[in-house]
Amino acid sequence: MMYDQAQQLRDRLMAKQQPPRAKTIAVISGKGGVGKSNFALNFALALAKRQQRVLVFDLDIGMGNIDILTGSSAKYNLTDLFKSGLSMKDLFTHGPEALTYIAGGSGLSDFFELDDERFEYFLSQFDQIAKAYDYIIFDMGAGISQNSLSFILAAEEAILITTHEPTSMTDAYAILKHIYRMEKGIKIYTVINRANSQQAGRVAMERLQKVVQQFLTRKLYPMGILPDDQQVMKAVARQVPFLLHNQHSPASKAVQHITDQYLEDKLDITRPPATSFVTKLKRLVTER
Ligand SMILES: Nc1ncnc2c1ncn2[C@@H]1O[C@H](COP(=O)(O)OP(=O)(O)OP(=O)(O)O)[C@@H](O)[C@H]1O
Ligand SMILES: [Mg+2]
Repeated sequence: MMYDQAQQLRDRLMAKQQPPRAKTIAVISGKGGVGKSNFALNFALALAKRQQRVLVFDLDIGMGNIDILTGSSAKYNLTDLFKSGLSMKDLFTHGPEALTYIAGGSGLSDFFELDDERFEYFLSQFDQIAKAYDYIIFDMGAGISQNSLSFILAAEEAILITTHEPTSMTDAYAILKHIYRMEKGIKIYTVINRANSQQAGRVAMERLQKVVQQFLTRKLYPMGILPDDQQVMKAVARQVPFLLHNQHSPASKAVQHITDQYLEDKLDITRPPATSFVTKLKRLVTER
């Protein structure tokens, strides 16, 4: 083996020995009801089926529905972290197929309005659990508020969900414009959901990529197209994630394909240090 190659191999092995840390991904949309929660949940399940350790955070605080979509009942939700002095691990609910999530709860909440002490507690708890996962996926509420925005900007990646309807596309562009204005470094993927055909999905994807490139001078990463699929509605009605309801349905096949492609791209990447999300969030919140 050439010296250079040996050195490269050593570097790679050393990189692999760094303490593991979770990649944080925020699932976002402009318009509501376009399929964020369903995508976040089923993408998480598909990753878990591929031996990735995944934690889903329902950050649609007060309106969360990951528990409803999985047919499991959560004893605690994220807001209990402060109310009851629990640790973040105590908030875990174990859903189907070894999926772990933290519920968002229902009712009014001021979760994003944390005082310094609570915020520090949240960060230290987050730091601890992040070491045990490969991916932490945030299912966000629709649109953005000043407070939830920090979580999106602090994430390493975001996945924007939109349908090809003009209203959804317009709102998708609006949220992208807002995010890119605040944080130039974030990598944003796009999923076109509920596509009537591959062709319609592709056209919408290309159109969005084009306007983002032209007017925001940013690169939007196409992640994939999910077909409109009756089986999704049936799965939601039965409170079973669609991937488990029927793994051969068009939407299930698409989400698995998207996950395979995503992992192929990712597995080779040397991961940045463990604290990146926490450090970024801290900076964003304290600078506000
Ligand atoms: N690929 C699909 N095919 C058919 N129906 C779908 C698909 N994706 C989502 N839906 C329908 O859209 C509904 C809303 O989906 P979901 O709750 O995931 O959206 P959301 O973006 O998380 O909504 P919110 O903004 O309220 O959080 C689902 O209950 C389902 O009926
Ligand atoms: Mg949702």
